[in-house]
Amino acid sequence: MLANLLELYAHDFSEFIDLQLQSDGRFGYPRLSLYWQEEGRLPFLVKVDGYLAGFVLVSRGSRVRDDPEVWDMAEFFIVRRYRKRGIGAAIAQEIWRRFPGAWEVRVLASNEPARAFWAAAIRGFPGARAEEATNEVEGKRWHVFAFVSPVVGGAK
Ligand SMILES: CC(C)(COP(=O)(O)OP(=O)(O)OC[C@H]1O[C@@H](n2cnc3c(N)ncnc32)[C@H](O)[C@@H]1OP(=O)(O)O)[C@@H](O)C(=O)NCCC(=O)NCCS
Repeated sequence: MLANLLELYAHDFSEFIDLQLQSDGRFGYPRLSLYWQEEGRLPFLVKVDGYLAGFVLVSRGSRVRDDPEVWDMAEFFIVRRYRKRGIGAAIAQEIWRRFPGAWEVRVLASNEPARAFWAAAIRGFPGARAEEATNEVEGKRWHVFAFVSPVVGGAK
């Protein structure tokens, strides 16, 4: 299921980065199996009224600095049919609530719509004040939002 959804995601991304189809007509996502092999990698499906509407891949460990504790929003996708209804922001905020602590949300510098989306989603998340920076990782330029998701109710 996720491999299929990742194809739609990669197709959207091919607008922003130099992604080529393989000879089987797929983009492929070689790291997907790691989500069932490595600790600290969490895959989620998004459903709306029982219909598949997207997915989220979360992983532990910063991709831009040396910090193994940070939560990283590795991939995030809402299918076109369900976009611009507040679903993406609601799902992101639900994920941040489920995993309190330091978060980094990386967005390709060339993906302007997603950058606006993340800025809005984080702005709407109570208690989160994001620091923003631009980093070069693996030859790509990323805009990184870093913030802390507070523990709701407070740990006693
Ligand atoms: C980016 C994405 C997740 C947004 O999902 P969504 O469910 O449509 O987002 P929401 O409806 O929750 O949007 C919340 C706010 O983000 C902003 N936003 C969302 N999409 C936007 C766009 N295309 N351009 C500019 N701002 C946008 C708006 O401020 C919006 O609030 P508004 O509807 O009151 O104006 C979705 O378009 C997507 O999956 N895109 C392809 C994959 C991708 O780029 N993922 C992010 C990887 S970093």
